[in-house]
Amino acid sequence: MRTLIAGNWKMNGSQAMAVAFAAELRRFMATGRQIRADMLICPPAPYLETAKRLLDGLPVALGAQDCHAKPAGAYTGDISAAMLADLGCQYVIVGHSERRTNHGESNAQVRAKAMAAHAAGLIPIICIGETEAERDSGQALAVTAAQLRESFPENVDGKGAVVAYEPVWAIGSGRVPSLDDVEGVHRHIRNQLLEFVSNGAMVPILYGGSVKPENAADLLGVPEVGGALIGGASLKAADFLAIAASQGAR
Ligand code: 13P
Repeated sequence: MRTLIAGNWKMNGSQAMAVAFAAELRRFMATGRQIRADMLICPPAPYLETAKRLLDGLPVALGAQDCHAKPAGAYTGDISAAMLADLGCQYVIVGHSERRTNHGESNAQVRAKAMAAHAAGLIPIICIGETEAERDSGQALAVTAAQLRESFPENVDGKGAVVAYEPVWAIGSGRVPSLDDVEGVHRHIRNQLLEFVSNGAMVPILYGGSVKPENAADLLGVPEVGGALIGGASLKAADFLAIAASQGAR
């Protein structure tokens, strides 16, 4: 399985930023330097079409940050998975902790979104992760396992979904779990996937939360870490590329 390096721009960026980002990617690729990871960018929805055009010919996939669970209808302001696929997306993030917190998304809603994504031909990236209080009370494994089991789409093979483990307290905080803790949670997630998903061994498990060029090689070297979901550091092409290039560099 190739490592997946995914950038989640969240509600950041602009047309100009997307242009500059793509230009830097293009300059990097023109140098002939090799990146051994698959790359994915998830810009805000209004920039998906621009990004699709800008990324043309570059080895970078396009993804969205959320989708609605229904294929179409009277849902003002929402975006269906089919629309994202129509725009050229291959992936969509579902159940990010910011959506779970700010929009009250439940595991059941996240699962419905993941199933809608799959039905539209997209690969859902299902986010799970414990809060600081849950970790401090020794519940990190139990909480992430329950989220996983309740959010993972039904009847989807392991080749059709990605899981991202993002401890809520590590997001945007500059704090990361110890490598041992990352390994412990990722192994636990893998064991769950092997139990209830067909081809559960094939699901890439990304780590997310304060991934930077400085810590990427260590994190990507942890067993069962199949890539990274990057927020802040994905806004600068140089940092995003440095993280992608650090795959296998340890
Ligand atoms: P940061 O990399 O900014 O901590 O964000 C992680 C994240 O939430 C990616 O989805």
